[in-house]
Amino acid sequence: MNFLVTAGPTREPLDPVRFLSNRSSGKMGYAVAAAAARRHEVRLVTGPVVLRPPKGVRTISVVTAEEMCAAVDQNLKWCDVLIMAAAVCDWRPVEVKRHKIKKTKSLPSLKLERTPDILKTMMPKKGKRTFVGFAAETRTVAREARRKLKEKGLDLIVANDVSRRGSGFESDNNRVLLISSNGTLERLPLMPKTAVAARIVKWVEARRRT
Ligand code: CTP
Repeated sequence: MNFLVTAGPTREPLDPVRFLSNRSSGKMGYAVAAAAARRHEVRLVTGPVVLRPPKGVRTISVVTAEEMCAAVDQNLKWCDVLIMAAAVCDWRPVEVKRHKIKKTKSLPSLKLERTPDILKTMMPKKGKRTFVGFAAETRTVAREARRKLKEKGLDLIVANDVSRRGSGFESDNNRVLLISSNGTLERLPLMPKTAVAARIVKWVEARRRT
């Protein structure tokens, strides 16, 4: 099968030296790409991270949410499975200054606008593809994840509480819930992100066999 995976944060620039972003390290998405590449063709759309791309994976580097959306769109036709592990910024500065914003007496105010929701943008073109999303939550994890599963037309959502110590952002481990559109909920124990990735790929393989 053909797997399209996204990973890492996006960066939304304010001026040539500053940006809005988040704490995503890319480890979860890179682990998914590596796990899928053992048995499938993989293209990885990645935001700025310090990780080495997994072997046998074609990597497409992007910076902003807009660029990630365009890269996913360009590769959607090719894929059977889309796994959106990227932590896409939800807002960007309305204006990107051409020169560095200098310190003045008054404080600058930031005007933000929404970035595209990539999964929602791809939803009408889903067809028979399998879509997997992630949910980064700090409370009412299962409830929020179920809402996103529905709103984004997903087959599976991988939900994690990013405020818990020892899992989530930057960690090598993760404790997740797998919630499927069939209504199943599987609570996985704390395990390496590589093991979580293998479970996700297995879930997709089983789903596509049925
Ligand atoms: N996502 C996306 N496009 C965005 C934001 C998120 O496609 N602009 C995807 C993420 O890659 C992830 C899923 O949607 O697979 C959920 O992301 P998350 O940040 O948890 O949720 P949000 O959509 O940002 O919703 P909220 O602000 O309510 O947490």
